Amino acid sequence: RTVSVVGVDFSGGQPKAGVDQGPFQMVQFGVLDQIKELGWKVNFDGTFPNFQKLVPTEDPDIGRMKKPRAVSSVTRALADKVRLAAQKGHFALTLGGDHSIAIGTVSGTAAVHKDLCVIWVDAHADINTVESTDSGNLHGCPVSFLMGLNKPDVPQFEWVQPCLTPDRIVYIGLRDVDPAEKKILKELGIKAFSMHEVDRYGIGKVVDMALEHVNPHNNRPIHLSFDVDALDPTVAPATGTPVRGGLTFREGHYICEAIAETGLLVAMDMVEVNPALGDDNGLLQTVTVGCSLVRCGLGETLL
Ligand code: ARG
Ligand code: MN
Ligand code: MN
Ligand code: MN
Repeated sequence: RTVSVVGVDFSGGQPKAGVDQGPFQMVQFGVLDQIKELGWKVNFDGTFPNFQKLVPTEDPDIGRMKKPRAVSSVTRALADKVRLAAQKGHFALTLGGDHSIAIGTVSGTAAVHKDLCVIWVDAHADINTVESTDSGNLHGCPVSFLMGLNKPDVPQFEWVQPCLTPDRIVYIGLRDVDPAEKKILKELGIKAFSMHEVDRYGIGKVVDMALEHVNPHNNRPIHLSFDVDALDPTVAPATGTPVRGGLTFREGHYICEAIAETGLLVAMDMVEVNPALGDDNGLLQTVTVGCSLVRCGLGETLL
């Protein structure tokens, strides 16, 4: 099998510089060779920066949205890349970059895998609409675009085809959900396993229930969108919006292992690794854990 790797050197979905260096750091750390060692053929074009050049110099706010043109043009180009990879039958691995890039990755895989479901591992729900967002940061909004919740259509994002329905996404790890997001999750009946459920049932049961919900007949291709801030900040400190009380090192890895075991995983995003935040040790820890989560998603096992 072949994995197509796209590194997205983009930070425009949020205000902190450095998250654009996440893919470079993971590649430096050796993630591509590690994947090859698992038996994959790796397809990587290797040019950084790929996406920064699509960022316009002038990009004033539109309504509450910050950097709407940048996010739109980067995610649009990314959607094409991911779609082409999926069309070739490749596993699409995307290294971020902030989580706004999932507008592109999920659009790309959903264009090819008509029956796609998404597992969103995150401290945050990232389902704010362009009206409900308090921060205006588009990394807090990708799911609303993918589900077509922004009505009327936002002109800059008209290219995004709503490709996700409420029964085809499930969250794991939530613990910082904005009031407006809670309302959206409730109204649409979107299944979410917050840290409360992880505490109550344990991660094994939670992943079983999540898969059962989103993939009841075990026949849907799965896109795993993994925000490194789902992990506890003691495990992954170098990220822009850390929230205490997160997944342990093993819980994070277990999620990736169990999803890989289904044999249905077709795409994975590893986002919000920000090497500019925290001390050297925190950086190394975060980059290392990003790489090992990716390896688990690609089938690495303990035995
Ligand atoms: N809910 C907050 C917002 O809308 C935080 C989002 C954080 N998202 C992330 N991908 N880290 O701004
Ligand atoms: Mn997050
Ligand atoms: Mn919040
Ligand atoms: Mn996120």
